[in-house]
Amino acid sequence: MAVIGVMDSGVGGLSVFREIRRLLPSEHYIYYADNAHCPYGEKTPEYIQGRLRAITDFFISRGAAAVVLACNTATAAAIECLRKEYVIPFVGMEPAVKPAALGTETGVIGVLATAGTLKGSKYLNTKGRFEDHVKIVERVGKGFVELVESGKLTGPEAEATVAAALEPLLAEGADRIVLGCTHYPFLLETLRKVAADLGHCDADFIDPAPAVAKRLVQVLEERGISAVDCNPGTELFASGNDAKLKEFYASLCQGSGII
Ligand code: DGL
Repeated sequence: MAVIGVMDSGVGGLSVFREIRRLLPSEHYIYYADNAHCPYGEKTPEYIQGRLRAITDFFISRGAAAVVLACNTATAAAIECLRKEYVIPFVGMEPAVKPAALGTETGVIGVLATAGTLKGSKYLNTKGRFEDHVKIVERVGKGFVELVESGKLTGPEAEATVAAALEPLLAEGADRIVLGCTHYPFLLETLRKVAADLGHCDADFIDPAPAVAKRLVQVLEERGISAVDCNPGTELFASGNDAKLKEFYASLCQGSGII
């Protein structure tokens, strides 16, 4: 039976989970929001590694055969040590620098992510591979995670917060913006509105979630993990307020049937 654990510091990982469920509707999922410790963005790698060990042990105690770190910051801080310490496979996030670099017409790409992700060696290595070909400009999405966690996805406060990070990237000529944190796709409507208001209707926002879901399918195939005899379904857990997680999940389900 294939139980798959999916984690994030909060509701952001649901932007990845909805893509996973689209591709693999018959598995049994445990989604864990570590919202008592959210945001992860400014925490030390050691702290995040400790959280990830506890969450992985929880998933394994519930029969998980694979774990998805649906969190760029957790991937940057912890995926390498988790892979050394556990036998089960881990799938993590990869900022979508490559598709952005291939698609840009201005030769400038923007990356929005947390401070932890932008400092991590995974991102710095990826950036190093493309820097000779395109200019890469970055901003921390300051306050973005808090907006999403509180359900303020649109409106004046969301627009002002988004504009503070997005405007400098657009001003430097970025026409492809990588969403390097799994919370940010939930702000897409506001990101598009702010870009249009600033005269950049052509700005394209790139979410790596579909690629991560495809990677999970590959990993399960490679490891011979299948959904046979599995009870399809989703269980939701949170280290803090689980009402917020359940409410957000329900609104996604009702909104468009995407989960
Ligand atoms: N959604 C997470 C990420 O992808 C975590 C954001 C945070 O907790 O700061 O980076």
